[in-house]
Amino acid sequence: MPTILIVEDEAKMRRLLELDLTEDGFTTISAPDAETALKKLHESTPDLVITDLKLPGMSGLEFLEQVKRANEALPVIVMTAFGTVETAVEAMKAGASDYVLKPFSLAEMRLVVHKELDVRHLREENRSLREALKKRHEYPNVVAQSAKMQEVLSTVERVAPTNATVLLGGESGAGKDLIARCIHEKSRRANGPFIKINSTAIPENLLESELFGYEKGAFTGATSSKPGKFELADKGTLFLDEIGDVPPTIQVKLLRVLQEREFERLGGTKTLKVDVRLIAATNRDLREALEQGTFREDLYYRLNVVPIDIAPLRERKEDIPALVQLFLSRFASELNKEITGIAPEAMRMLMEHYWPGNVRELQNVIERGSALSSGPLLNSSDIRIESRTRPAAAGNGFLPEGLTLEQWEDEMIHEALRRANGNKSQAARLLGLSRNALRYRLSKIGIADEQEN
Ligand SMILES: Nc1ncnc2c1ncn2[C@@H]1O[C@H](COP(=O)(O)OP(=O)(O)O)[C@@H](O)[C@H]1O
Ligand SMILES: [Mg+2]
Repeated sequence: MPTILIVEDEAKMRRLLELDLTEDGFTTISAPDAETALKKLHESTPDLVITDLKLPGMSGLEFLEQVKRANEALPVIVMTAFGTVETAVEAMKAGASDYVLKPFSLAEMRLVVHKELDVRHLREENRSLREALKKRHEYPNVVAQSAKMQEVLSTVERVAPTNATVLLGGESGAGKDLIARCIHEKSRRANGPFIKINSTAIPENLLESELFGYEKGAFTGATSSKPGKFELADKGTLFLDEIGDVPPTIQVKLLRVLQEREFERLGGTKTLKVDVRLIAATNRDLREALEQGTFREDLYYRLNVVPIDIAPLRERKEDIPALVQLFLSRFASELNKEITGIAPEAMRMLMEHYWPGNVRELQNVIERGSALSSGPLLNSSDIRIESRTRPAAAGNGFLPEGLTLEQWEDEMIHEALRRANGNKSQAARLLGLSRNALRYRLSKIGIADEQEN
């Protein structure tokens, strides 16, 4: 229940208001003068103030001004004697919400109080709605229905305004690029450049010059000088993708830039200083590379100031429906087609797939499906999921390409379910598992065991 602060020097009047408003369900605090009232205002936080304009000591008008300075949004109703309407007008100009002329009936006062509290409530509701709306639109391209992605976004929110180095972890296609861009766009560097470099896409002998630039004559073929990515990213963000694959010779140089914020171009003598925020990404567990000695420990700790791990899609299947909707509307408008949704059976297929290629794979499936679809709904026949259960044809490894043993096992479970048409006892038999063992494995990969077959 709202709390009302009553400021009135006439004891009888004050008592009357207290009684009446308490009876109406409000909590009341009261004060005989402005000085006491200001003290009480700081001790408790009333939702509304009723004050007489004529008070001993500090005047009601001065009191009103002080209240407004402290809390602009707090509604203040002033009481004034009949015949002094001018002061009431003055009070309104100073920020009073409404005035009541003495003598008034208690019913009249109640009416004004309720009206003011309603207005305040509406205003607050409006404000929080506006804020919620703003929040929702802050990342219009990022689906984050799952608690795991919500957490990623809240870390982004916290870390973006700082200059801290971020290390993004997550399987290929999970959204590392997307999140790196979010961090840049939410930072004070948003108007600066966002430069990306993928170390696996560049041969080792070129990587150094790509990163740090070179001077004319630095090597055969260097007929002019060229700035590197670090220089290009000045006042912005440099995104080092696949950091785990950076060769040791370059790791040393990166470490120096991180520590000293300076470097030289290849073949150059001038030391360059840049103002760059670094974001690195890896789809491997770098700690493993540390143990194997292929990644420098000192560099790892410099990069891993704020780690953000993006969970694989199979661990946050709640995101699938919203991702499907996002991609559908994107591709439908690209293809100029009227596709509004997806059939339940098709959605079930998407929910049950293992998604080794994560969001990127889902995006590809929806793109292909949108191209194939001929109606307003994507049907199961439009969904072409590449089954990765078959071993790679030209097998240099004995596991299917890109899959770990665990992922492959999960794929086999999915395949068994498909062949058994969802009948779990039959699927268990196909896998040579007991019904209980299958149930355990299904719960591990996020398939609810809702019905007994
Ligand atoms: N949460 C998400 N919401 C919307 N689109 C996403 C999301 N995560 C990934 N994507 C999209 O999926 C694709 C692959 O994501 P990307 O960031 O390139 O993955 P990674 O860098 O981890 O390989 C991109 O087109 C990206 O926009
Ligand atoms: Mg990427």
